[in-house]
Amino acid sequence: MQMRHFRLMFSASLQKQHTSSRMKVPLALCICFSLTLTLTQTSERPTCNDCDEDHFCNCRAKDLHGVPIVPDDVLYLDVSFNEIESITQRDLTCYTELRNLKLQKNKLSTIHKEAFHSQSKLEALDLSFNNLKNISSQWFSNLRSLKHLNILGNQYTTLGSIALFQFVENPALRTLQFGNLWIRDVKQNLLRNIRQLDELSFVGGVLRSYENGSFQTIQPIRAVSVSLSRLFQDDPALVSKILRDVSHPETSLTIRDVSLETQELIEPLREVTEGGTRSLTFQNIITTDEAVSRLLEVLDGSPVSYIGLEDICLIGQGWWEKAKRTHLENLHTIHVRNIEIQGFFKFSSMIQLAFLLKHLTKISVINCTVFVIPCLTSCFLKKVEYLDLSQNLLSDITMQESLCNGDSKMRNINTLNVSHNSLKSLQLMSHLVTSLDRLTSLDMSHNNFVKMPQSCSWPASLRFMNLSTTKLHRVTPCLPLSLTVLDLSQNFLTEFHLHLPNLAELWLTGNRIIALPEGGHFPSLRMLFIQSNTLNMFNKSDLMAFQSLQVLEAGHNNFFCSCDFVEFFQGSIDHLITLGDGHRSYMCDSPFTLRGLNIDTAQPPVFECYMILLVSVICSVTVIGVIAIGVTCHKFHILWYLQMMIAWLKAKSKPSVQMAALLFDTMLFVSYSQHDAQWVEEILVPELKSSESPLALCLHQRDFLPGRWIADNIIESIESSYRTLFVLSENFVTSEWCRYELNFSHFRIIDERNDSAVPDPARAHRQGDDSQALLQTAQNNELQDVPRVA
Ligand SMILES: *[C@@H]1O[C@H](CO)[C@@H](O)[C@H](O)[C@H]1NC(C)=O
Ligand SMILES: *[C@@H]1O[C@H](CO)[C@@H](O)[C@H](O)[C@H]1NC(C)=O
Ligand SMILES: *[C@@H]1O[C@H](CO)[C@@H](O)[C@H](O)[C@H]1NC(C)=O
Ligand SMILES: *[C@@H]1O[C@H](CO)[C@@H](O)[C@H](O)[C@H]1NC(C)=O
Ligand SMILES: *[C@@H]1O[C@H](CO)[C@@H](O)[C@H](O)[C@H]1NC(C)=O
Ligand SMILES: *[C@@H]1O[C@H](CO)[C@@H](O)[C@H](O)[C@H]1NC(C)=O
Repeated sequence: MQMRHFRLMFSASLQKQHTSSRMKVPLALCICFSLTLTLTQTSERPTCNDCDEDHFCNCRAKDLHGVPIVPDDVLYLDVSFNEIESITQRDLTCYTELRNLKLQKNKLSTIHKEAFHSQSKLEALDLSFNNLKNISSQWFSNLRSLKHLNILGNQYTTLGSIALFQFVENPALRTLQFGNLWIRDVKQNLLRNIRQLDELSFVGGVLRSYENGSFQTIQPIRAVSVSLSRLFQDDPALVSKILRDVSHPETSLTIRDVSLETQELIEPLREVTEGGTRSLTFQNIITTDEAVSRLLEVLDGSPVSYIGLEDICLIGQGWWEKAKRTHLENLHTIHVRNIEIQGFFKFSSMIQLAFLLKHLTKISVINCTVFVIPCLTSCFLKKVEYLDLSQNLLSDITMQESLCNGDSKMRNINTLNVSHNSLKSLQLMSHLVTSLDRLTSLDMSHNNFVKMPQSCSWPASLRFMNLSTTKLHRVTPCLPLSLTVLDLSQNFLTEFHLHLPNLAELWLTGNRIIALPEGGHFPSLRMLFIQSNTLNMFNKSDLMAFQSLQVLEAGHNNFFCSCDFVEFFQGSIDHLITLGDGHRSYMCDSPFTLRGLNIDTAQPPVFECYMILLVSVICSVTVIGVIAIGVTCHKFHILWYLQMMIAWLKAKSKPSVQMAALLFDTMLFVSYSQHDAQWVEEILVPELKSSESPLALCLHQRDFLPGRWIADNIIESIESSYRTLFVLSENFVTSEWCRYELNFSHFRIIDERNDSAVPDPARAHRQGDDSQALLQTAQNNELQDVPRVA
């Protein structure tokens, strides 16, 4: 059912295509094909989910037997090291955006001629080391953007007589690698059409024929590498033909994977001299003193200015003086790397090579077990400007010899590289180079200095110094003020407090530094690299302190994602500075809840971020609330009512005692305003006292306990009095305390349903009962209308 439905859709879309724009055809087809694939081929085609946000799908070494299904917008697809045997017409149809396709080291034996037809944007294709027996130029007919093609290895024995890119009008090809151990012929047409090639690599150990001009393009190829191994022995004439085509002043030539042990094998290299080659490299070669001498003779008078020797096994001791009458004035640069010398221990002095050394300006002898350059030899290096002795066995003592104990004749030297050796004394190094007054660049990385002396002497010309991986724990003023670039990465530094006014680049990667160095000390600093330290955070003012800083790389630190830092990082850091390593490498280390999160996406808890705000809001709300309650209480006399309630509740909970107390109460509480005091004292009190049964009177002025709260006094007095007499006057009504007294007494009337209040002086006078003074206190008390607690 599903399939039929799909077919209907398919034909519908095809019909539509006739009427609608042509541009939509591939898209519709593609959608349809992916439908087909999901409907019919899911079981056959594997999937690969290792794709990242850059549309890079890494499906390397996954035991795949077919081209996997990946997202349609893939740009970079690596399916190398799998078991894929064929590529069908449809396998790649959907991946129209593909730029880079790696298919090397599979078992490819068939590729459909239209397999790459939708990859018009493909720039790099690697088909090397498969089982392809034929290379078809039809594969490439639509690869208009292809720049890099690698078809090394495989089992083809010829590429045929047609051009690889015969169907492409203007091939973009820049690098081509081809050939294998079986290829028998190279035909003239091979590179036809190609205008300019930057790099050509060819492997052809059993070649039988090579047509003149096959390796020639309209413009000379920039770099050619040929691996012809046994051909030097088997067919020197063929080698000459090839070398003739690739020798050109603008072409740097690499000859690799060959054993050049006798003089005769060197003969084809005459073509190199004749072609005017200036840059010649040998790679992976076994050779002898004899062959080297012959080579130098063959190059006599040639314009060659650069000789490279990489991965060389020399059977000999450096006796090349047979060639000492040669003219190699043009030879300025020798680059030697990974050389293994069988007569190594006899290879100590190179005085016999003076004829060669005296012209050199650039020498690199890297990873060659050099442990000393005798001072005598270094005397010939008067012209040398660049000396790289990295990855060797130099020690303090042999360094002393090599630089003639500080009196070296290499006065033109501007770059010295002694990285990856066994040097221990920075003090000695500074002493040895101090007279080299043109030295600008000194690389001493990967040595074992451990300590930095307090002061050193360096040539004033020194600008660049590399002290990375030298086990330093501390920096001192030993470092020269003239430096513009300083690399101190991969040490054990915990701080960096120096003033280096000219420094423009500072590398502190891989140390244990907790805070950014103080910006004020580096007024010229433009780039700061401080990744993989233990930085907690930094802020705007830290960065602003650097007057000239443009680029900062500080990823992979132990950032504490506080609210301030996160806000600064997400908000304003990009306006201040360029983060050279991108936001992605900045992760939170603490607090624990945010660990491992990118700072860009981290959200510290709201409470923490706005803690001060929250606390102040809560505090002010509380204060306002308290004030409001206070005002309300004051306004509506709530406290007093509460007191009253409590007093009454108390009274009710102890009825027997209270009742007993009251029963014997014959006291009269007189409630009056302070303004009526005169009247009360002069008229009312004598009047009441002079009646036939004088009453005990409770007067606030006299009987209230000092120091107690007025409300308490009132309550107690009313409670303990048999009656309360109110002196109702204008003053009474305006007095707050009098109103309390009235209220309280009403309360008592209602509560006890008795008649304890006498609202009228006249009535009180009539009702006067025998009373007995129960109250002991008789002290004067200055009661006022104002509430008072004291
Ligand atoms: C493949 O190459 C072989 C020779 O190596 C040749 O005989 C054969 O015809 C070629 N096949 C195709 C399809 O080109
Ligand atoms: C190739 O060039 C060489 C020398 O220029 C010449 O001797 C030889 O005949 C040429 N071969 C062909 C097939 O053109
Ligand atoms: C140094 O050279 C030796 C052979 O001489 C080689 O095995 C080794 O891999 C080289 N080391 C580096 C770092 O290139
Ligand atoms: C010095 O040599 C090391 C190792 O060979 C290399 O990594 C470094 O770039 C060189 N330094 C300079 C300044 O060329
Ligand atoms: C310093 O030397 C190390 C190791 O040789 C190298 O990786 C680094 O790039 C050098 N630093 C600079 C600034 O060239
Ligand atoms: C920035 O951080 C430094 C410590 O790194 C601190 O001394 C300074 O007060 C901070 N400045 C601001 C504005 O937070």
